[in-house]
Amino acid sequence: MHEKYSSNFGELIRGIKDIKVLNLKNVLIKKTTKDQKAIIKYDSETRLKDEKVFFLTNFLYNIFDFFFILLSIVLIKNNLLNGANLLVIYMYKGKATGFVDSIADIYRNFKNINLSIERLYEIVDGNKYSKEVYGNREIKELNGKIEFKNIYFGYDKSNVLKGVNFTINPNETIGLVGKSGVGKTTIFNLINKLYMTNKGSILFDNININELTENTIRENISTITQNPYIFNMSIKDNLKIVNPNITDKEIEEKCRLCKLDEYINSLDKKYDTLVGENGVILSGGLKQRLAIARALVKNSKIIMLDETTSSLDNETQDYINDSIKKIKKNYTILIIAHRLSTVIDCDKILVIDDGKVVGFDTHKNLIKNNKYYQKLYKKELL
Ligand SMILES: Nc1ncnc2c1ncn2[C@@H]1O[C@H](COP(=O)(O)OP(=O)(O)OP(=O)(O)O)[C@@H](O)[C@H]1O
Ligand SMILES: [Mg+2]
Repeated sequence: MHEKYSSNFGELIRGIKDIKVLNLKNVLIKKTTKDQKAIIKYDSETRLKDEKVFFLTNFLYNIFDFFFILLSIVLIKNNLLNGANLLVIYMYKGKATGFVDSIADIYRNFKNINLSIERLYEIVDGNKYSKEVYGNREIKELNGKIEFKNIYFGYDKSNVLKGVNFTINPNETIGLVGKSGVGKTTIFNLINKLYMTNKGSILFDNININELTENTIRENISTITQNPYIFNMSIKDNLKIVNPNITDKEIEEKCRLCKLDEYINSLDKKYDTLVGENGVILSGGLKQRLAIARALVKNSKIIMLDETTSSLDNETQDYINDSIKKIKKNYTILIIAHRLSTVIDCDKILVIDDGKVVGFDTHKNLIKNNKYYQKLYKKELL
């Protein structure tokens, strides 16, 4: 029981960013609270049993002590023992305080369990450590337009983004390119509102991000990170967790779009196969495809994909590109790309350098007119 509990807890910590952007915070907090209550009940029952045993042995000790004192008194009275009664009383006192100490210990331990859980919830909830503020405009389905207007942002004093401007229209597929550390993932973090900008505004469908509820942002955006977090559940449950009402048929259809069906059907238990801790049985490429399928199951209008630099082989990359081609007309898709094969197929490519947009056009036009893109192109974008 403790193992299951700590594994769920570990899950909560390891997948914290994914849990947040998947909008699963409440689902998992509820689940962990239930586990926490069960464990406290289990702990108190075992503790109570332990205490009963302790009490009984203590009781026997006390009876023994009582007869020992009685015997000592008789012996002292008959001048057969001197000063022994003092020693006996001292020993008796020691046992009594030991018992009180152990009760205090139990109380302290329970208090500690509750305290650490509360702290963890504060982190997951983001109430204590971030100054995120959300608006109250709830929009079930965004059209998928994204605008950055003069965005400045830095994690510390120095700015990573220094006046970024762009407009992405609904159902466009955009590639983001630029040197390592230039701020591509940072742009995703800001779209997800994991951080507040220092200056400028981000708009979805012409509405400022700060007016929208957290739910609107989480439900309308899916992000596939460089190492997507996969829960220690079956393949099916990993998909159902973001949309419990989805049918098995729909799940199979989404997996087909992501070219996962062949692999899943080759497994003994197919969709019911357990993937292990953080999807240990899945390769990096399979994890990313499962995460894309999860985005489709969630049915969010905006899908963002942070392509890995090197961990995917070309064949896996082709699978992912194929999946994107199949879904692209219905979603606004942003891809952080490190390979030309990915960006060539994008409607437009956003080129970032030194905190600014230095190009935003089709591959064809950029390769003709953009010096910086030509340089990146020569280096294969890496
Ligand atoms: N959480 C963070 N706290 C502090 N600094 C950060 C954090 N995340 C990123 N940075 C810094 O911000 C800058 C931009 O990082 P970012 O991850 O956006 O780059 P990137 O373009 O995605 O790079 P890569 O291609 O290597 O993934 C880097 O200098 C990085 O060290
Ligand atoms: Mg990155």
